[in-house]
Amino acid sequence: MKFLTKLAVAAGIAALLSSAAYADSLKGKTIGFSQIGSESGWRAAETSVTKLEAEKRGINLKFADAQQKQENQIKAIRGFIAQGVDAILVAPVVATGWDDVLGEAKDAKIPVILLDRGIDASKDLYLTSVASDQVKEGKVAGDWLVKTVGDKKCNVVELQGTVGSTPAINRKKGFEEAIKGHDNIKIVRSQTGDFTRSKGKEVMEGFLKAENGGKDICAMYAHNDDMAVGGIQAIKDAGLKPGKDILVVSVDAVPDIFKAMMAGEANATVELTPNMAGPAFDALDAYWGSKKEPEKFIITESKLYTPADDPKGVYEAKKGLGY
Ligand code: AHR
Repeated sequence: MKFLTKLAVAAGIAALLSSAAYADSLKGKTIGFSQIGSESGWRAAETSVTKLEAEKRGINLKFADAQQKQENQIKAIRGFIAQGVDAILVAPVVATGWDDVLGEAKDAKIPVILLDRGIDASKDLYLTSVASDQVKEGKVAGDWLVKTVGDKKCNVVELQGTVGSTPAINRKKGFEEAIKGHDNIKIVRSQTGDFTRSKGKEVMEGFLKAENGGKDICAMYAHNDDMAVGGIQAIKDAGLKPGKDILVVSVDAVPDIFKAMMAGEANATVELTPNMAGPAFDALDAYWGSKKEPEKFIITESKLYTPADDPKGVYEAKKGLGY
């Protein structure tokens, strides 16, 4: 494993697993977590890491899985309010429709922290938001493609995330910004695969059929790795070579995409850390312990990985982390 990769991965793992002493303001607190569901490997890792980070700090975490439905998240948040939790974490499945329930949390003086996705609502309704810069993620993916194809004509198919979610909206925007002015690169098909492996495969099968069996496709851009993995399978089933006949670029950096890179079937991914809860709990700690108002937006890193970054080493380092 290359030294720098080793260092970066080790730092990431240390951040995930560090058992540093935490201030007492969180110990014994009850915090509700409304999670979207388990649509992707990344989501599973976020859930595991959140539970681990809560345990390390002596937090009593109440976990609610919304099975991809906003109505279930709203119900769970109302339940947390009724129980009088000390704070609420929510990973909002879509951007709109949060005003009423978050207003109720505000009236009950329960701080709310958004994890990994944003909302279209007044900033007064949440204490802080811990997420990546999702436009940047799309831009990093698009810049990689621009650099990789140069002047060559390149028809791109896009597997979008969940309709109405901020990562789907922003990753699309960032990618389009990156390819703007490069007239040789065009998004020829774009459809949601809902961030799941099975829908990613299904949608890619349709794209391949519609694009001359895939011969007219130069690259597949997926808003997450799970859809990319599904898409890779569809490309193979169509008798083409993913990573060669059709370039594959996606977001998340989950272990399975590194496996695909090792097999030469994926070309690039943009990392999204599953540790959103660590910074969220630290912000709450500072808020309760030292009355320190956190930054409204805590932005996590968006690092590009390609086969040059020792996929085997990264896979080995990540595979036990709850993905
Ligand atoms: O909100 C983050 C996104 O949600 C991840 O990129 C994706 O895998 C997940 O479903």
